[in-house]
Amino acid sequence: MKNREHWGSKLGFILAASGSAVGIGNIWKYPHMAGQNGGAAFTLIYLLCILVVGLSIVITEFVIGRKTQLSPVGAFETLAPNTAWKWVGFLGVASAFVILSFYGVVGGWILKYIIVSLTGGFNVLKGDPEAAGSLFNNFITGTWSPVLYQIIFMAVCIWVIVHGVKGGIEKWAKVMMPLIIILLAVLAVRGITLKGGLEGISFLFNPRFEDLTASAIVLALGHAFFTLSLGMGTMVTYGSYLDREQNLLNSALWVIALDTAIAMLAGVAIFTTVFALGANPAEGPGLIFVVLPSVFPQLAAGTLWGSLFFILLFMAALTSAISILEVVTAYFIDQKGWSRTKATIQFGVVITVVGVFCSLSLGGSINLTAFMDITFFDFMDYLSSKYMLPIGGMLTALFVLFHWGVPNFIDELYMGISSKKIDSRIAVILLLVSAMVVGFIILNEIIAKITGTAVIG
Ligand code: PFF
Repeated sequence: MKNREHWGSKLGFILAASGSAVGIGNIWKYPHMAGQNGGAAFTLIYLLCILVVGLSIVITEFVIGRKTQLSPVGAFETLAPNTAWKWVGFLGVASAFVILSFYGVVGGWILKYIIVSLTGGFNVLKGDPEAAGSLFNNFITGTWSPVLYQIIFMAVCIWVIVHGVKGGIEKWAKVMMPLIIILLAVLAVRGITLKGGLEGISFLFNPRFEDLTASAIVLALGHAFFTLSLGMGTMVTYGSYLDREQNLLNSALWVIALDTAIAMLAGVAIFTTVFALGANPAEGPGLIFVVLPSVFPQLAAGTLWGSLFFILLFMAALTSAISILEVVTAYFIDQKGWSRTKATIQFGVVITVVGVFCSLSLGGSINLTAFMDITFFDFMDYLSSKYMLPIGGMLTALFVLFHWGVPNFIDELYMGISSKKIDSRIAVILLLVSAMVVGFIILNEIIAKITGTAVIG
């Protein structure tokens, strides 16, 4: 496309793509999943999934995007005209709706917690996770307050995207990503230097294989997709704003390294603090919103540490939310010829409205329990992480293997790489293994849902 927007620099692209990857998944989901699933045992499987499946799919998505210079629906249509493959693109757009609806709600919670922390509101929760638990529960099950914060979060997200690829997404990724890394590093050092903090590190990094359950493996794989923003065309869309000079192999390695390093840093910052102060590491989803607010006031300058933590979490959530909405925006620009402003505002609003239902489902104002035994909020989370993203990723790998062809894929990958020594057999094996692993895990989930017993897990 002649006047397609492009990234301003190679670094800008890497920061935007890793900004997409680094989000609530790294700082909220990963630590509590590891905490509940045997710490290091979970970390080990997670790293393996990232290296084998994650790396292959990140590269594949970048390649498809850059080759076609289009967002997912148009990209699949261009490479496979008049076939059903374009539905992989539509699945991505649908996933964006599903994920951003609950992601925006969590973004709102984070905003609320920045304000609570800055105004000294954590002090009354000192050493009292029960009080922190009721504050959190009362807030998220309320009607107006969480919705208001969610709307503010979504408005900021829309505002950034309206300013375009270079002037909005890239500009803010360049500001926020370095800040996230610096703040997390400071928090990690603070945690390590606390008395007893090192126990948190051994919890995270000393594998105890007896803790390695099959269901942790399933969880780790689904999370690998979520944390790297894979399976819904986000990386196809970001890749479509690239020119042929970018080394995609290098860029993918950078994105993966930054995403993993930040998840580990978050784990270190959180578990060292939790262990030093004798709190419960296996608290689950409440780790961030319940345990930490009761722990921060126990530290000297607790208000400062608490506020910094939630500010960095806000920036991480925002750079990811931006990338999710950009998938929808780019679809309407590329396929329907809409203006960026119109597409972003209209669909940003639609997603916010779906998100309001997610938020209200937590307080029972919207009761869906007659149809399912989980809230609408949890349903959207499970649907996307367990099914939509892995299925999208698997189909993308199958598309390269069986339709577009590995030689075409490698030709595009070679652009921007000086040494042309990629063995196509390695690409075939990696893509095949990725597709098969994901296929097996999804089948396992479906069998478990239907029969009540899983093959593994
Ligand atoms: N990778 C983000 C996180 O870890 O929080 C979540 C995410 C962003 C998922 C973008 C999917 C996506 F397309």
